[in-house]
Amino acid sequence: MKATVLELKRKKGAHLVMLTAYDHPSARLAEEAGVDLILVGDSLGMVVLGYDSTVPVTMADMLHHTKAARRGAPRTFLTVDLPYLCYATPAQALENAARVMKEAGADSVKIEGGLETLPVVEALVRAGVPVLGHIGLTPQTASALGGFKLQGRDEANARRILEEAAALERAGCWGLVLELVPAPLARLVTERAAIPTIGIGAGAQCDGQVLVFHDLVGLYAGFAPKFAKRYAEAGAAIKDAIARYAAEVRGGEFPGEAHSFAMSDEVVKRLRGT
Ligand code: KIV
Repeated sequence: MKATVLELKRKKGAHLVMLTAYDHPSARLAEEAGVDLILVGDSLGMVVLGYDSTVPVTMADMLHHTKAARRGAPRTFLTVDLPYLCYATPAQALENAARVMKEAGADSVKIEGGLETLPVVEALVRAGVPVLGHIGLTPQTASALGGFKLQGRDEANARRILEEAAALERAGCWGLVLELVPAPLARLVTERAAIPTIGIGAGAQCDGQVLVFHDLVGLYAGFAPKFAKRYAEAGAAIKDAIARYAAEVRGGEFPGEAHSFAMSDEVVKRLRGT
């Protein structure tokens, strides 16, 4: 049974498991493995579409991939990133949230950013859209933050993150992603918030954790941050499988009888005109 927003809010401290997925097979595997939440993240741009940041990702990309992920995981709560510059105003955010929820079947949207996003978050929540906040390192604006770097290390920035977390909770977010912040800061945010925090590179004291599918299974060849623990080497396994396929085709071993279809000798004879 798919979780409701109310149930998720009550799961503070429950070690929520969130994983990104971007298509039917990854979402199906995530659901079958029993994750609590799926995120169709705009990390899609980097791990699936081959961009070097999330900035080029479009609403069309998100809709296309969310529809596929939803078909793969019909029973899992699914949150979708609104991509860069697709929630610049409350009106634009509402229009795009409506599309991911009504056309693609999302249960919630994720919005990156702090105090500057409050009008957008408030408008979405007022309209009945469940919103997951995302603070700390926000990849869409990573350049303005000095790159993919730890956030909130010094006191002033740590205080800003605490303030943002409190404001986003007051604005009605059902949960908060904390990305790339020191573990003690994430712990403090988690202790102060009544809503669940979901960490990535934010230590063990968050209420849940999220990882990017391709990092977890070893399918992303780009930079692997320290927090991205690999649980499998699927990329190496797939490359090996392709190399064996190529060798068997070139060596005339594939397809063998087990992968071919026979027909009656009589028919073959007649076709050959003998
Ligand atoms: O896009 C994404 O995958 C994310 C996660 C890293 C939280 O935002």
